Amino acid sequence: MSHCELSEIIMQGKTIVVTGGTSGIGEVAALALAGMGARIVLVARNKGRGEATLARLEQQAPGVGHRLHYADLAQLAEMKRVAVEIAAAEPRIDILINNAGAMFANREVTKDGFEKTFATDHLSYFVLTAGLRERLLAAGSARIINTSSHAHKTAQFDINDLQSTKNYTSFLAYGRAKLANILFTRELARRTAGTGVTVNCLHPGFVATRFGDEAGGLIGHVIGLAKVLAISPEEGAKTLIYLATAPEVATKSGEYFYKSRRTAPARAGRDDAMARALWEKSVALTGVDWV
Ligand SMILES: NC(=O)c1ccc[n+]([C@@H]2O[C@H](COP(=O)([O-])OP(=O)(O)OC[C@H]3O[C@@H](n4cnc5c(N)ncnc54)[C@H](OP(=O)(O)O)[C@@H]3O)[C@@H](O)[C@H]2O)c1
Repeated sequence: MSHCELSEIIMQGKTIVVTGGTSGIGEVAALALAGMGARIVLVARNKGRGEATLARLEQQAPGVGHRLHYADLAQLAEMKRVAVEIAAAEPRIDILINNAGAMFANREVTKDGFEKTFATDHLSYFVLTAGLRERLLAAGSARIINTSSHAHKTAQFDINDLQSTKNYTSFLAYGRAKLANILFTRELARRTAGTGVTVNCLHPGFVATRFGDEAGGLIGHVIGLAKVLAISPEEGAKTLIYLATAPEVATKSGEYFYKSRRTAPARAGRDDAMARALWEKSVALTGVDWV
């Protein structure tokens, strides 16, 4: 049996929740996984974009009941509301792909008082996973996949300045949020060991998507120009799809992947004490009941 045939058997009847599935690597992965037989539950922030991706999913894999929920994942109340909505609608979730992400040239603060990159790229992963954890456990065997980035390699945390009030640049804040993805993956893996739920994260490569288009400023222009050097969304989605489908990943947890291979994150991404501290801060900041 070929790897493709095996993946199709594994994906038949699976329910997959995807954030950031209306564009870029998330959309490519959602369409590919639907093509293998999965039912996709999309989280979108924009009606037109959400409906367009839902229509593509219906065309790719009709009649399995793909679903669309709306939330601005930069806003705490919306993260919580959409998690409650999905948990009410889905008795069982086989795969959660936390993939929504963005970068901002200027420091922006959400109405909850969070720096916007930290809110979108880390807190949304934390809050959505917390709200769906019982549904993932109900699947018996489930996977959580967090899209991180090699951008974490230049980042360090000041655990007392997670909102980047002291030294904001778009790349520093983005790197910190992507480091948070790795530390969250690590701590969650420790906490879910032996439950049947695994969690891994990845770097997709430098990919020509809409990433950076809303960044604004010089960084937006630089990313736009650099995209001529980037790989395609189809290529960039490969590791996401691998983590969702590969049988050999079923027993792996807490790892960082690039090009469908395990790789070591930077030293700051292997700091278990920092991973615990970030968890505790994330609980305190969001008020999520997840001790
Ligand atoms: N592109 C790269 O080179 C690269 C490299 C490393 C890591 N990554 C990571 O890969 C992930 C996917 O990015 P991409 O490259 O595919 O970029 P993309 O084309 O810009 O897609 C980003 C996705 O996130 C969604 N999103 C952003 N902010 C949101 C919010 N506040 N609420 C709800 N959804 C929101 C977007 O929704 P809309 O469709 O409404 O805009 C879109 O679906 C991100 O986590 C990014 O950090 C990308």
